[in-house]
Amino acid sequence: MSTDNIIVGLDIGTTKTCAVIGEYNENNELEITGVGISLSQGLRRGVVINIEATLRAVVEAIEAAEMMSGKEVQGVFTGIAGGHIDGINSRGVVAVTGKGREITKEDIERVIDAAKAIVIPMDREVFHVIPQEFIVDEQGGIKNPLDMIGIRLEAEVHIITGSVTSAQNLVKCVNRAGFRVNDIVLESLAASMAVLSRDEMELGVLLIDLGGGTTDVLVHLDGAPYHTNVISIGGGQVTSDLSILLKTPISSAEKIKREAGCCYLPLVDKEEEVIIPGVGGWPSASIPRVELCKIIESRMAEMYRMVRDQIEKKGYLNHLGGGVVLTGGGALLKGAAELAREIFGVPARVGYPKKLGGLVEEYRNPVFATGVGLVLYGAEGFESESLEIGTGKYKRGGVLDKLKEWMKEFF
Ligand SMILES: Nc1ncnc2c1ncn2[C@@H]1O[C@H](COP(=O)(O)OP(=O)(O)OP(=O)(O)O)[C@@H](O)[C@H]1O
Ligand SMILES: [Mg+2]
Repeated sequence: MSTDNIIVGLDIGTTKTCAVIGEYNENNELEITGVGISLSQGLRRGVVINIEATLRAVVEAIEAAEMMSGKEVQGVFTGIAGGHIDGINSRGVVAVTGKGREITKEDIERVIDAAKAIVIPMDREVFHVIPQEFIVDEQGGIKNPLDMIGIRLEAEVHIITGSVTSAQNLVKCVNRAGFRVNDIVLESLAASMAVLSRDEMELGVLLIDLGGGTTDVLVHLDGAPYHTNVISIGGGQVTSDLSILLKTPISSAEKIKREAGCCYLPLVDKEEEVIIPGVGGWPSASIPRVELCKIIESRMAEMYRMVRDQIEKKGYLNHLGGGVVLTGGGALLKGAAELAREIFGVPARVGYPKKLGGLVEEYRNPVFATGVGLVLYGAEGFESESLEIGTGKYKRGGVLDKLKEWMKEFF
């Protein structure tokens, strides 16, 4: 099997692990040629807690994707999430030193380094430093200051940090499974690349990745991230509520949720009944679908309100001209967008991964948003070395420098 020219995204989620293979075709267009999925069992709330189980899921997902594309995977772009993730905004200033006061690439690097020079606890690592805007001699709103003339250069950046040990455990799983980690990428940043349009990011948009174990929040304003948060509760909680209240095993609660669940009551027919299968010899029972949906609605509304409260506190709620975009498996729950529209008071839609060539039917599902986004993130690094606002490219050489030390142990 050949290994050339492929970009692989590996999304190790709480409920599933998926590998997505991107390849350039003869017209130099990126296509998705392999998608592999396996059941995750080694994570809790987005964080690896069992290396063996996680590495098995990684091998299984990658092998399935390899089989589909006929390519051999070596390096992967791996996603990271979990309650340990935090995002902060920071600012740096430098004097322009280039000839004729022309701003050079080095000046831009220096100002970003200056913005990055904040105190980060020893147990945390910087995953991304993303420029929001540059200010040249008091003139703000500049996306790319290269070659402009000025004396004072300022940068505003969004810095995403997380736990060092969580990242180490992820890398360890992937390495032990026999693959190299090209980069570690915040899952919601990857998902943003797959499901958001440039216009939405410019207008202001709230991305919510409704996963099984975590709900990832990312606010983009003026084309760059301003707020990042991971809430350690997800769709698994909805299933577990149903399991407890309907006295049915998790697997049956999950099936009922997917088939008959809805989190927006106006969409539910009052007359409908749902069959709850009996356990341990008990006969099955029938309950009104409205009752089932009330349980789901109350948990979903609580999760949305948690997100709304944090966005409101930061003052971003009134800047969402692009509305709310929901992705991840939880976005497939019926009524998810309708309830979001009601709670956030702005338009809401479900985010499907953008159309790339290849296996369109396989990956055009919110469940694959992060996996496809990881491929797009990787492709961006391949395609251009130029400066771009709104992507995490400035971190290159950051977190990976440290990771290389650990990787040496394996390669
Ligand atoms: N058709 C559906 N209707 C309702 N919920 C669904 C549907 N399909 C998947 N889900 C829910 O989506 C969740 C899994 O989503 P996803 O695959 O995005 O999570 P993950 O990436 O494994 O987890 P995380 O990102 O939290 O680590 C589960 O809670 C599952 O119940
Ligand atoms: Mg996920």
